[in-house]
Amino acid sequence: MALAIATFLFITLLSTTKASAFDSCASSSNNEELSVIPIYGKCSPFNTPKPTSWENTVINMASKDPQRLSYLSSLVAQKPNSAPIASGQQAFNIGNYVVRAKIGTPGQLMFMVLDTSSDTAWVPCSGCTGCSSTMFAPNTSSTYGSMDCSAPACTQVRGQSCPTSAPGACFFNQSYGGASSFYATLSRDVLRLGTDVIPNYSFGCISAVSGSSIPPQGLLGLGRGSMSLLLQSASLYSGVFSYCLPSFKSYYFSGSLKLGPLGQPKGIRTTPLLKNPHRPSLYYVNLTGISVGRVLVPIAPELLAFDPNTGAGTIIDSGTVITRFVQPIYNAIRDEFRNQVKGPFSSLGAFDTCFASTIEAVAPPITLHFTGMDLVLPMENSLIHSSASPLACLAMAAAPTNVNSVLNVIANLQQQNLRILFDTANSRLGIARELCN
Ligand SMILES: *[C@@H]1O[C@H](CO)[C@@H](O)[C@H](O)[C@H]1NC(C)=O
Ligand SMILES: *[C@@H]1O[C@H](CO)[C@@H](O)[C@H](O)[C@H]1NC(C)=O
Ligand SMILES: *[C@@H]1O[C@H](CO)[C@@H](O)[C@H](O)[C@H]1NC(C)=O
Ligand SMILES: *[C@@H]1O[C@H](CO)[C@@H](O)[C@H](O)[C@H]1NC(C)=O
Repeated sequence: MALAIATFLFITLLSTTKASAFDSCASSSNNEELSVIPIYGKCSPFNTPKPTSWENTVINMASKDPQRLSYLSSLVAQKPNSAPIASGQQAFNIGNYVVRAKIGTPGQLMFMVLDTSSDTAWVPCSGCTGCSSTMFAPNTSSTYGSMDCSAPACTQVRGQSCPTSAPGACFFNQSYGGASSFYATLSRDVLRLGTDVIPNYSFGCISAVSGSSIPPQGLLGLGRGSMSLLLQSASLYSGVFSYCLPSFKSYYFSGSLKLGPLGQPKGIRTTPLLKNPHRPSLYYVNLTGISVGRVLVPIAPELLAFDPNTGAGTIIDSGTVITRFVQPIYNAIRDEFRNQVKGPFSSLGAFDTCFASTIEAVAPPITLHFTGMDLVLPMENSLIHSSASPLACLAMAAAPTNVNSVLNVIANLQQQNLRILFDTANSRLGIARELCN
């Protein structure tokens, strides 16, 4: 009896704790606003222990950047007549932010990784081999359907999909930079984001996975290529969305995703989005220069130039942790920064310009100059502090040397507490300061 009561109490306590933890992380039901949940944050479903220090988290996360960069570079360097890959996400490492989405009728909750450099969406489906335990169950959704090999959409996951003449459902394979891959059925079902309903949304229903770098509850691509959410929901969102990423330090908070033109900031400063026909999902912008303090860093224009053929230029990405510049650009920025801060300097993880935080007040702000828009990075977005020692580091790095990269990537840490507006209808990208958490 005593045991039964104790067990009962224990279960009650357990479920109370669970319920309140769940509630504090519930998505706002606001129509335009969805939570963007840091994968290492309290509201992440992926049972990541509370990090002992956020800068170690950043360093650990940033250690996966080279793989991401290599993936992004391989996309843009693709030869026109090599085997086309399915639009999206090859080398990919779990991702940094997730959003709550419901798929099917009734809706099944999935925490999907947000990726602005991928177009398609996919989720693990019941019976999947190699997937983690949370899976979408198509057979309990009254609106689920698979698509045939003859469906036009099946040719858009080209390369590894079935021939159009084949009978039956459209199956396709995607590889992940050689290390991971999955096998999926092209499907359609209702997708719910907040209170928005997108009927007949095309996505991949994964039935087998190999390798370890596949997001456990799927991926939601916010790129702008052919199978993207933006194109599939054109009538609802008119090709517009924005997000605001929370501070890396804020374990307890989430940012927000706003889909569609309503509620977007007015009078926001913008720069044109550039299109690369060889890599239609990526968001290229024209980065024309970088200032350190008042000094415009000398950079040969050809290092910054957009070149659709080689893939060179600058993109904004939600899957890279720290901003990476091609080596000569990074070196020029770093040298000017060191010149103004005066060391001594040391290294920490990916960061090679760390200095005593007591002299932090002399650290100059970094300004990114784009066509028509300057972005002065808040100090929180250009310096990272060590908790173990009184150090501050310039929170950027060169593209990894083993990647023949021509691409500059503006990454998450530099996007904290800014609203980034992607307006594909007017082909522009806007940035405004906002406290996201
Ligand atoms: C749905 O599919 C799963 C996995 O294939 C199976 O175990 C389950 O029995 C099915 N449920 C129904 C209602 O058909
Ligand atoms: C996908 O890969 C598996 C295993 O390599 C293979 O058996 C299957 O035929 C492939 N399917 C397609 C559509 O390419
Ligand atoms: C979904 O699309 C398919 C193929 O285009 C169509 O046959 C079906 O009627 C659509 N369903 C809804 C609910 O729009
Ligand atoms: C980028 O900006 C530079 C400098 O203003 C300009 O010369 C160049 O044409 C721009 N590139 C594109 C693709 O707009």
